[in-house]
Amino acid sequence: MGLHILVLGVFLQLFSYVVSEQSALLSSCPYGHGNEGFNLDTDHSDRERRNAQPFQLEVRPSVNEPNLDVFLKDFLPKYNVNPSSVTSGWLDLPSIEKQPSEPIKCGLPPQNCLNDSLNLHYRSIDGSCNNLLYPEFGIAINRYRRLLPPRYVDQHVQAVPNARLISLSLYGETTKTDSYRTMAAMQWGQFVAHDISQLTTKGAPKDCCAEPQHPQCKPIALPRGGPIAYNTGKSCLSFARAISDADAICPKSDLPYSEKLSVVTSYLDLSSLYGNSPAQNRRVRLFKGGLLRTSYVNGQHWVPVSHNENGECGSKSECYSMPDRRNRFTPTIALLHTILLREHNRLAEQLALLNPAYNDERLYQEARKINIAQFQKITYYDWVPLFLGRDYAQLNGLIYPEESNEFVNDYDESVNPSAYAEFSAAAFRYSHTQIPGWFSLVAPNRSSNQTLRLSDYFERPETIQLLSSSDNFDALIRGLATQLQKRSDANVDVEIKHYFNRKEFQEYGADLKSFDIQRGRDFGLASYNDVREFCGLRRANYWEDFAAEISGEKISLLRKLYASPDDVELTVGGSLEFHAPEALYGPTMLCIVGKQLLNSRRSDRFFFERDNHLSGFSRTQLAEIRKASLAGLFCSNAHYLHYIQANVFVFPNGRNSLLNCNDIPQVDLSKWQDFRAQIMN
Ligand code: HEM
Ligand SMILES: *[C@@H]1O[C@H](CO)[C@@H](O)[C@H](O)[C@H]1NC(C)=O
Ligand SMILES: *[C@@H]1O[C@H](CO)[C@@H](O)[C@H](O)[C@H]1NC(C)=O
Ligand SMILES: *[C@@H]1O[C@H](CO)[C@@H](O)[C@H](O)[C@H]1NC(C)=O
Repeated sequence: MGLHILVLGVFLQLFSYVVSEQSALLSSCPYGHGNEGFNLDTDHSDRERRNAQPFQLEVRPSVNEPNLDVFLKDFLPKYNVNPSSVTSGWLDLPSIEKQPSEPIKCGLPPQNCLNDSLNLHYRSIDGSCNNLLYPEFGIAINRYRRLLPPRYVDQHVQAVPNARLISLSLYGETTKTDSYRTMAAMQWGQFVAHDISQLTTKGAPKDCCAEPQHPQCKPIALPRGGPIAYNTGKSCLSFARAISDADAICPKSDLPYSEKLSVVTSYLDLSSLYGNSPAQNRRVRLFKGGLLRTSYVNGQHWVPVSHNENGECGSKSECYSMPDRRNRFTPTIALLHTILLREHNRLAEQLALLNPAYNDERLYQEARKINIAQFQKITYYDWVPLFLGRDYAQLNGLIYPEESNEFVNDYDESVNPSAYAEFSAAAFRYSHTQIPGWFSLVAPNRSSNQTLRLSDYFERPETIQLLSSSDNFDALIRGLATQLQKRSDANVDVEIKHYFNRKEFQEYGADLKSFDIQRGRDFGLASYNDVREFCGLRRANYWEDFAAEISGEKISLLRKLYASPDDVELTVGGSLEFHAPEALYGPTMLCIVGKQLLNSRRSDRFFFERDNHLSGFSRTQLAEIRKASLAGLFCSNAHYLHYIQANVFVFPNGRNSLLNCNDIPQVDLSKWQDFRAQIMN
């Protein structure tokens, strides 16, 4: 509790001088990006350059303030009639009857963690026994947590506007670039998100628009006039509710409501690489030399390809075999997965040379331990400052002064690492605004002549050939380090808003923004106003009370959509706030994301900075881990990459210029030579 007060206290301090980061940075624009091919402002000419197959935006009614009223007329009868014609308030999902497949079982820790001495030295694969007092903390297939109790409302209380309508009317579609953060930063963020939580809609039908409606379905009606409906005639977006403990076999909870389940470990432990269960883990490991399985094509190692042996590719004939299918979404996240996979094997091979006496298990565990430590170092020390702000991160104990090669012993056994519903279903998803509609392939001289349209490569098996052909993999790495991410603002790129998950031969796709809004309802998230108050902001009694955080223009739109300030949803209100200084989140979202990431490190007995003679590193090893960087991982695990800037999350500039890979600091693994093991054998 003391911790909580500290966070809020510091936060309030910051809050008193909140300014829009955009206005601060726009004027100075410290990192020129006039480089041809990197100016991502979507004017028409750019859009045509995007792809080998340029696509033309159809002429369609745009939704802006003047014609919003016309638009709303059809969809907002909320103040007078019949709540069933709008998406009404959501009831807590009753348990779903006739679950077709095996019911999900919550994760269960062993009776006694210390029975297995491995638990003292290494993380378990399902996250159990990290916390020896509460061995179930952070275990895969476990409940989300809440900052505030859920707000599932009865139908009669209140009607919320259609999620697609909110997406269309409140958010623009202009893609402007961030002033210095690269695509690598966005991409790392998604990897972090996947490591922390994953909901499941298991048991839902493939198409939730189909009649009769399955109880787990809550499809989104498409307002006429929006581009998807306008151009395709579709009237429905498929959306399935997430599974909760009411649909699963779980230890009893003392909560008065059912709670959603996350199927991955909550700790930042590369679970999307190593798996979340012994069964997943067995499929990943080679059981030789500590290595993970790979496929070998064109002289390089890749993620193994499955020919849908276990139905893991769904309707596809082949796909990358990964514990977390979300790491197949785009070529760039698959690339990051590949880098971390190659890094594991590189570490295992080096350790084997240093410690010939180590067996497969020992090599695997030590390589995994170093890989995760590097991942945590990069996440907290290199990535967090760029997303949450360096001062914020330091003041709140997310990071410690960097010169220090000291241990940090902020472990707190009482902290539960589970993902907050407010974090996973709302705050961290605000980063979906950072996704641009395309990815650049960049040549060694940093010119880009090819871009991939996002929806051409979303969950497509072609990604497998794409990555392994010519030097595409390295061109995409240079792209990640050179292309700027989309500016974090109230705009959503059309590839996310209208073309999301577009299938081959389809002209349009779906709208991730409206899914995010709908997901917030599915989770029954506390209102924006409630979370504001929780985070130390003033509760809004009148619309004007939002004015310190939200622009007048957006407030006037909110007034048209919601009956009162109390009805504004977290996903919506939180995404319209001016950002906190240096951060990519407004104060409410920052408070949630900051708290989650603080929990993640403090709850982790194996966090890389711990001083623990059984599970931690030595002082000299820790000093090496602190040299790890994403630039270093890229250099060590790509074949044709020779030059890169030291901080790949930031566009190259005078203080972050392109260096020869040989000059990028690397972790010296000789500090892991284990003389004791040699003598013992
Ligand atoms: C190309 C980039 C990305 C794509 C295509 C993408 C797509 C998705 C999709 C389809 C979902 C599931 C939506 C649902 O059914 O509710 C999701 C969930 C999520 N995304 Fe993203 N995303 C991307 C990037 C990011 C980034 C950059 C972040 C954060 C920095 C992020 C954070 C999250 C979180 C926290 C969730 C919820 C995880 C959970 O299930 O608990 N995503 N994303
Ligand atoms: C744990 O203890 C039980 C009984 O004491 C024993 O049967 C079992 O083999 C042990 N499990 C492990 C993994 O050591
Ligand atoms: C950069 O490299 C590409 C391909 O390697 C080449 O076609 C292009 O002319 C080069 N651009 C410059 C400015 O040197
Ligand atoms: C453009 O990119 C393609 C594919 O990477 C490459 O084969 C080609 O040489 C490049 N052309 C120029 C002019 O850079």
